[in-house]
Amino acid sequence: MKVFISKNIPLPGIENLRNAGVEIAINEKSIPLSREELICACKEVDLLLHVGQGKLDHIFFENCAHLKGIALTSVGYDHVDLQAATKAKIPVSNTPDVLSDATADIAFLLMLAVSRKAFYRAQQVKNGQWKDFEFTKDLGTELYGKTLGIFGLGRIGLSLARKAQAAYHMRIIYHNRHRNTEAEKLVNASYVNFDDLLTQSDVISVHTNLTAETQYRFNQDSFRRMKKSAIFINTARGKIHHETDLSEALQHGEIWGAGLDVTDPEPMRADHPLLNMSNVCILPHIGSATLETRTQMALLASNNLIALKNGNKMPQVINSQVYASE
Ligand code: DGY
Repeated sequence: MKVFISKNIPLPGIENLRNAGVEIAINEKSIPLSREELICACKEVDLLLHVGQGKLDHIFFENCAHLKGIALTSVGYDHVDLQAATKAKIPVSNTPDVLSDATADIAFLLMLAVSRKAFYRAQQVKNGQWKDFEFTKDLGTELYGKTLGIFGLGRIGLSLARKAQAAYHMRIIYHNRHRNTEAEKLVNASYVNFDDLLTQSDVISVHTNLTAETQYRFNQDSFRRMKKSAIFINTARGKIHHETDLSEALQHGEIWGAGLDVTDPEPMRADHPLLNMSNVCILPHIGSATLETRTQMALLASNNLIALKNGNKMPQVINSQVYASE
């Protein structure tokens, strides 16, 4: 079997595939491919190891129905038309668990950085604006004993909750579609409705999938209901918040600050007004970007393809319906 790898991955992932006897074609330059280029590259192979957020839409699946399987290198799969994949009987896998701690680290980093205006303060140093020891200007705020509201308390949210409790004794509340009773026990989290999450949280951190239900869930109305002192953090998907509404909420002082590792669209334009706000910290979607985590993701993705090569089911399959008729 032959795999096309759509962007470079850490070497252990490649070696894993080679050792299992999988032939490899790779987009070495790591330049993002257009849909047509990807379709063309997939014509010659049986498997796709898809790196990044490039869309796999119904046109892709109509043209690549011959593929035996696709391994994503992300836990999120909103960029994939799963219905079309299932219709074409192509199993698709993702990379859960291995990136939870690294992503929660970025949420924690943003929460702390926003609370102390760290990115803005660092920029002042670079701009030569560090003149004096200001005693009352541009003060931050502290997190100790405050309430952290988690929207989507799964593996990543739980990892953040543990860090926030250990570091700052934060009280944890959360809103999910289904209650997470294990997390309730582990971090003493309290389940609340969405309105209570908005009104009670000092920091809200988003850790849910992007779906029709969660798209733009944080909008003008939600920002207005949050505390004026609240910090909004999103490390999940940019479309879960409404970016213009977020900018306005910050400009009008409806919330205090925001930290984003994901924006809408990505990349964010360099002259975006959010980038000049003192209480805003923006990162370029680096939740899983550590050597350790990206290596684990590459191994997990390659193991899913190797399972297929050996005639087995993908362990991390998302559209398990493809196996239903077997
Ligand atoms: C994920 O795994 O979903 C990360 O956001 C990277 O896309």
